Amino acid sequence: MKFEFSAGIIVYADMDGERKFLFLKNPHGWWDLPKGHIEKGENAIKAALRETKEEANLVLKPYRSFVYSEDYWFISAGEKIKKNVKMFIAKADNVGDVRISEEHSGYAWMSYKVALNELRYKTQKQMISSANSYISRLEKIDAINAEYANLPNIAADWKLSRRFVPGEGRLNAKVMFIGQAPGAEEDMKLRPFIGRSGKLLDRLIKSAGLVRRNVYITSVVQFFPPENRVPTDDEIALCKPFLDRQIAEINPEIIVLLGSVAAKVVVGLDGIKSIHGRVISGKPTYLVTLHPAAAVRIKSNMPLIEADFKILKSLLKNRKRFGTRQ
Ligand code: URA
Repeated sequence: MKFEFSAGIIVYADMDGERKFLFLKNPHGWWDLPKGHIEKGENAIKAALRETKEEANLVLKPYRSFVYSEDYWFISAGEKIKKNVKMFIAKADNVGDVRISEEHSGYAWMSYKVALNELRYKTQKQMISSANSYISRLEKIDAINAEYANLPNIAADWKLSRRFVPGEGRLNAKVMFIGQAPGAEEDMKLRPFIGRSGKLLDRLIKSAGLVRRNVYITSVVQFFPPENRVPTDDEIALCKPFLDRQIAEINPEIIVLLGSVAAKVVVGLDGIKSIHGRVISGKPTYLVTLHPAAAVRIKSNMPLIEADFKILKSLLKNRKRFGTRQ
């Protein structure tokens, strides 16, 4: 059996107030997305970028948190071939840049509805449908973030950093992690959990059988409290509605609450030392654990947090279909 790997980009643009997707008419006469073989020495993202440049003359920046992966079989010259296609999403800001390669006979920007009519294969329709709902989620999260980032300009007596640290990860993640507030390093780089406790969180996420880019990571307060102090009740009250909106939008199956502030704010539980490891089943299911910083600072906390992440691993194992929601 032969294996083939290809990659490409689902390109979209805002055109006259409508979201439209780019399709190329291939040599067989049907609409396809910019995609092609992953060459030797390339990874999927590199191949996707190259193909999109070669086939449509577009240089794009794909969202790293979305990958649509599809496996299928076909027969070519009597040989069975297993193919994997990885598709990314990117927004084209300059639609006038499109120039198609000689192998294509035309291109079209189609709305989601038109695309569903025009596309030939069910797998293509599923791909576009998944991308379309992902982009809608992305736009909603962007809108929440824009409003949230503006809080320092409108809130009275602002004492936190003015720099907003957005949540990060897959917007259709099954597992969401909620910390307390960014630290100094996160404030500098504007990414959550990238300092010492972030390194530990990465390791714990891996230990549960997950990959960081496939989960969603945020904090109760998304501005750095100077001197790493605990955010005040007033600060938490200001930020909480935004956290609630993020949770509603990501809609994860499992939320891992990292530390006492997240446990108190999200499920109303005090006394982290005695409640860590607790699972509150429902939609979503919550798992309470220590904040990774507590395990970085106090070594005796390390086995406790590691044990909690084993609980996470078994929660995931007991779910029938774990993967990414499309
Ligand atoms: N600790 C948190 O709670 N959140 C971050 O983003 C980083 C460290």
